[in-house]
Amino acid sequence: MFLDIEPIAAPNTIFDSHAHYDDDIFDDVREDLLQTLPKYGVAYVINNAVDCKESAQKCIGMSHDYDYCYTAIGVHPLNLEDNGPLDTALLTELLKTPKVVAVGEIGLDYHYTPETKPQQLELFEKQLILANELKLPVIVHDREAHADTLELLEKHRPTGVLHCFSGSVEMARDVLNLGMYIGVGGVVTFKNAKKLVEVVKMLPDDRLLLETDAPYLTPVPYRGKICNSAYISVTAARIAEIKGYSIDKVLELALENAKRLYKI
Ligand code: NI
Repeated sequence: MFLDIEPIAAPNTIFDSHAHYDDDIFDDVREDLLQTLPKYGVAYVINNAVDCKESAQKCIGMSHDYDYCYTAIGVHPLNLEDNGPLDTALLTELLKTPKVVAVGEIGLDYHYTPETKPQQLELFEKQLILANELKLPVIVHDREAHADTLELLEKHRPTGVLHCFSGSVEMARDVLNLGMYIGVGGVVTFKNAKKLVEVVKMLPDDRLLLETDAPYLTPVPYRGKICNSAYISVTAARIAEIKGYSIDKVLELALENAKRLYKI
C-alpha cells in the first residue's frame, strides 16, 4: 500500500527532515513501514511532534525504537486550543530527551484559525525564546502568515528551517539572510508550484533541506497515496531537474545540510 515506488535512491542517502509518523493514519502500518524505509535509501527521519502530549510521546518512542529516527517537539499553532497555555517546564524537559534535535513544529497558521492570531503569536514567540535558550534549531510552519513569521524570526534570530516553504523569492532572501534553511517537499512537483520553482532556482546549495510532511503533500505522480519518506527521491528528481544537478547530488546536499543543522 505504501511502498509502491521503485527504490531509486542509493542506500543511506535520504534525509527526511519533516515527517509525522505519529499520525493515527499510520497506526496499522507504522512498524512495517519504519522497518522497510531504510531499504528505500532512507538514512534519517525527523518526526515533528505537534504537542507535548501524545504526539511527543509517540515521536520519542520511534526515536528510541529506530536508529534512524530523530524527534523535534513543539506546540503547533493548530494545537493551541487542545493544549491551553504553553507548559514551558514540560516542553523544556521533553526537549532534553536523547535524540530530540529541534523545537518544532511551531509557527503561525492564519489559513485555518485566523481568529486565534494573538494567542498564536504569543505561543510562537515563547517557543522561539526557549529554542534560543536551549541552543536548539526551530522548525517553522508558516501558512498565510509570512509577514508576522518574518517579523518574529528577525526579532529572535533562531537557527532552523522554514518548513514547506510557501513564500516568494523576496521572502526566501530574507530567510537566507537570517542564516536559516528552506525546506522543500512534494509541493515542488505540483503543476502550480511556479513560485517555489523560482525559490529552488535561487536557493544556495548549503541551505536546502528535503522533507515529506508525511502523511501529507504526496508528490506527483503519487497524489492520492499516503506520503512517506521513500517519495523524497521523486521530490529530489524534480529539484535536480530545476537546478541541473543529478538526483544523487541533491540528496547528498540535503543530507549534509540537515546533519549540520541538527548536529547529527
Ligand atoms: Ni508538518
